[in-house]
Amino acid sequence: MGNGIAHVFAQNGYNVNLIDVSEEALARALKTINKNLDRQVSKELINETEKAEILARITTVSNLQNGVADRELVVEAATENLDLKLKIFGDLDKFTDSNCILASNTSSISITQIASVTSKHDKVIGMHFMNPVPVMKLVEIIRGYSTSDEVTEKIMTLSKSLKKVPVEVNDYPGFVANRILMPMINEAIYALYEGVAGVEEIDTVMKLGMAHPMGPLQLADFIGLDVCLAILNVLYDGFGNPKYAPCPLLVNMVRSGNLGAKTGQGFYTYTPGSKDKEVSASFKK
Ligand SMILES: NC(=O)c1ccc[n+]([C@@H]2O[C@H](COP(=O)([O-])OP(=O)(O)OC[C@H]3O[C@@H](n4cnc5c(N)ncnc54)[C@H](O)[C@@H]3O)[C@@H](O)[C@H]2O)c1
Repeated sequence: MGNGIAHVFAQNGYNVNLIDVSEEALARALKTINKNLDRQVSKELINETEKAEILARITTVSNLQNGVADRELVVEAATENLDLKLKIFGDLDKFTDSNCILASNTSSISITQIASVTSKHDKVIGMHFMNPVPVMKLVEIIRGYSTSDEVTEKIMTLSKSLKKVPVEVNDYPGFVANRILMPMINEAIYALYEGVAGVEEIDTVMKLGMAHPMGPLQLADFIGLDVCLAILNVLYDGFGNPKYAPCPLLVNMVRSGNLGAKTGQGFYTYTPGSKDKEVSASFKK
């Protein structure tokens, strides 16, 4: 997600420090940005000169303090882990100017909780970009309990300058996107688990019947089944309502390491370097 966010900011004229603790991740991110810019060039959306200008606006940095010292905005997109985010925001609070806005791209962690480890609760906000960032129009803007009107207004305006469509939501479990998406995915998994229909049948109903570009089981594979489980647990714990309880089949698949496209096995089987997929042997009739 970090490479996509850096890409979009740089394409819209902002100078970006792209920060990661891993040099390897930084090299991989630049390679991905290059490849995605090449695709834009081949579609004649940008030319080679513009591609070079966009790349020139991105500097990779492996030290957090150096990377954020002179910045007006930080968009955190590190691994989805509460303790890690709390540590990073504690550090950001120390390393940034008092006026710097601190945003998180978290899919499910409370913005209010993240803000609680800083000395400026009013300047912490969620900027939930969708994957793939250069393509998807939506940014879910999440107001923490104490996020100020001024900061919200600034981030809404900034998101429009990235040619995105920002939608303002309040900070409750799952925000809006995942509060609606994850129960749908969970229900699709329950339908499979209870033998209502097979993998392809469930996905076909939702694609052709509801005009979804991708069926919910394939989408779950793409998001990562571990990520889906983690978000469902956030909803389940956050609301204390059994309607969000993750399907036991999802729990088992995660425990067995079948995490979807990234491991090659989920509801479907994926071949690296190919777009082909087939229903996983476990679910073949
Ligand atoms: N993948 C998605 O579809 C998606 C969509 C929307 C939002 N998100 C959110 O975006 C964030 C990142 O997701 P991702 O899928 O890109 O994760 P990822 O695990 O692929 O990448 C996270 C990166 O963070 C780096 N990192 C770890 N600790 C760090 C630290 N202390 N300082 C700096 N960098 C650090 C890792 O080296 C890694 O390169 C998460 O909060 C996730 O919930 C993901």
